[in-house]
Amino acid sequence: MDEGQVEYTEAVTRRESGQDETISANRGWWDQEAADYLEEHGTFLGDADLIWGPEGWSEDDLHVLGDPTDLAGRTILEFGGGGAQGARWCATRGARVISTDLSAGMLATARLIEARSSGPPPLLAQADATRLPFADDSFDIVFSAYGATPFVADSAALMAELARVLRPGGLLAFSTSHPIRWAFPDLPGPEGLTANGSYFDERPYVEATWDIASYVEHHRTMGHRIAEIIDAGLVLRAVHEPEWPLDNTEVWGGWSPLRGQHLPGTAIFVASRGHTR
Ligand SMILES: C[S@@+](CC[C@H](N)C(=O)[O-])C[C@H]1O[C@@H](n2cnc3c(N)ncnc32)[C@H](O)[C@@H]1O
Repeated sequence: MDEGQVEYTEAVTRRESGQDETISANRGWWDQEAADYLEEHGTFLGDADLIWGPEGWSEDDLHVLGDPTDLAGRTILEFGGGGAQGARWCATRGARVISTDLSAGMLATARLIEARSSGPPPLLAQADATRLPFADDSFDIVFSAYGATPFVADSAALMAELARVLRPGGLLAFSTSHPIRWAFPDLPGPEGLTANGSYFDERPYVEATWDIASYVEHHRTMGHRIAEIIDAGLVLRAVHEPEWPLDNTEVWGGWSPLRGQHLPGTAIFVASRGHTR
């Protein structure tokens, strides 16, 4: 390196990362990546569809939120909604929907999609899902496909916050990468099939330059994730581990048809505040 030049080398580590550092890093990362994310995954996600993960299963396939004809008139919150595609799917079924996201960049992609869409638009708001600007008991349904949950340090606090804004009897549903993935290299090929880490190691994955984090992703074992849901006062209704469908040939990061034949890639957690909705 020439004299006077400064080296900016990004390092990948597993180390603790608190809530403030995590939020700051991920807000910046998603702001910067938003346009590329839409470019890369927009067609797969659709403009007004609720796709639960890289397997490609949609809400029309899985009915995680219940009977779709029952959504009309419901008040629904999408957290970590990105381009708000899932919220738009709910809005077209007659629900009153607000989609929130930490990242202004991701909300900008939602507005881009909105400009070319003809269906009823969801409301959009910038909000950290661990500190929602809504009153207690506001929503019949709270959901997210891969939003926020792995990107916060205190996911127990996130569960409590989501439970707070749910009405009694309301439904929480969210997907995230399946916890078993954390024991394997995040690679789509055969090298991603040999465990090289511990499933039990819950230290987050951190990308950093000079130890200043630029991306942080957090892991919980299945048992700890379920405990956080129960500790938030919610009733766990289901955990879905959707299989990779044979007709999906797309690779999305570390998710691929090859790995999908061997390992679950997505976990969808469904809980309710009390027993009925
Ligand atoms: C993998 S994307 C998922 C977006 C969208 N649900 C989808 O299926 O394409 C993760 C999203 O979570 C958002 N996010 C990260 N941390 C968050 C937080 N603390 N509160 C709200 N959203 C957050 C990111 O900005 C990003 O839009």
